[in-house]
Amino acid sequence: MNRRVLLAARPIGLPKLSDFSFSAEPILDPSDGELLITAHYLSADPLQRWRMDETSGYGKTIALGEMVWGRMVGQVVRSRNRNWQEGDFAEGMLGWQEYAVSRGDTERVSYARGLTRVDPKRAPISTSLGILGMPGVTAYFALIDICDPQPGQTVVVSAAAGTVGSLAGQIAKLRGCRVVGIAGGSAKVRYLQTDLKFDAAIDYHDTANLKEALYAACPDRIHAYFDNVGGTVSDVVMSHLADHARIAVVGRVAQLGGPRDRADPQAYIISARARMQGFIVYDYAHRADEAYGEISGWLNSGKLYFDEVVHEGIESSPQALIDVLKGNGIGKHVIWISGK
Ligand SMILES: NC(=O)c1ccc[n+]([C@@H]2O[C@H](COP(=O)([O-])OP(=O)(O)OC[C@H]3O[C@@H](n4cnc5c(N)ncnc54)[C@H](OP(=O)(O)O)[C@@H]3O)[C@@H](O)[C@H]2O)c1
Repeated sequence: MNRRVLLAARPIGLPKLSDFSFSAEPILDPSDGELLITAHYLSADPLQRWRMDETSGYGKTIALGEMVWGRMVGQVVRSRNRNWQEGDFAEGMLGWQEYAVSRGDTERVSYARGLTRVDPKRAPISTSLGILGMPGVTAYFALIDICDPQPGQTVVVSAAAGTVGSLAGQIAKLRGCRVVGIAGGSAKVRYLQTDLKFDAAIDYHDTANLKEALYAACPDRIHAYFDNVGGTVSDVVMSHLADHARIAVVGRVAQLGGPRDRADPQAYIISARARMQGFIVYDYAHRADEAYGEISGWLNSGKLYFDEVVHEGIESSPQALIDVLKGNGIGKHVIWISGK
């Protein structure tokens, strides 16, 4: 049987376990041209929460009763597609389920179900959901193309201990920047300073001191802001921009389904003549291999550090997403389903 996670109710704010249900259906046989993939890992990503809102406007809204869409990496167990052999590894937007049937297209266009071939010799296959997957491409291009990191300049990253933020900050360090991370909790602050070698790290849960701490950590103001969160953290960052600062608006996890208590960032952007640009990873699908090449090189030469939080079994998928959104644990959250 193929077990799947379904959306049972539209979450209000943070999802609850009761917003999800499970189904079990016979495993489908691939038709001509199709292949069957058994999941090794599923991914829990903030964008899944966004797609659960009725008017998400980001990708396709997940319907009530529909399978929760999310990324999977797994192995081909049956193939009726000449481009894929049994035993091949593939990653794609295949949903929170234990088995997926795919047409095997490799085109990675907007929100599509296209597959990416995964080389298990390059790195553990779970990294194709993290540092060598969609979050890796996001960190790389939003930093390089939009933040335009220049040696000696100050780059601030929010959700800095997260999958995207931790990689973006490390790449900014490799580019010679002064990197300041904002994260929730003292364990994450220690992680950023000790393991990732950021120049400074601030615990935003200590809200009374966020402004003071940020201004002290950025005496030359902020030349580039890699914004993963929006919300009140970003309001404080925006008030300390250097002239001609660049802002990559990558995520809005602080505003996903929660109260919209923003200040007026436009006022700060106009004062600083800053450039703020939205980012969607799919615009860079055709250049993903550039990012993977650079990131693999840094990984192999020990210049990058990453962590994973591994949940076990499809039943743990909803809790994995809740943990991602709450910031529980350090590292990319993946759900182990089968395989080594
Ligand atoms: N635009 C694109 O194409 C694209 C592609 C991939 C990802 N993204 C976005 O990039 C961001 C990071 O993604 P990720 O996969 O690396 O997730 P992540 O950073 O590993 O997880 C989300 C983090 O958000 C932080 N957070 C939660 N509530 C917050 C709040 N109210 N204020 C501030 N921070 C809060 C938590 O960290 P703390 O414990 O530090 O609070 C949590 O760990 C997300 O916003 C995601 O949607 C965008």
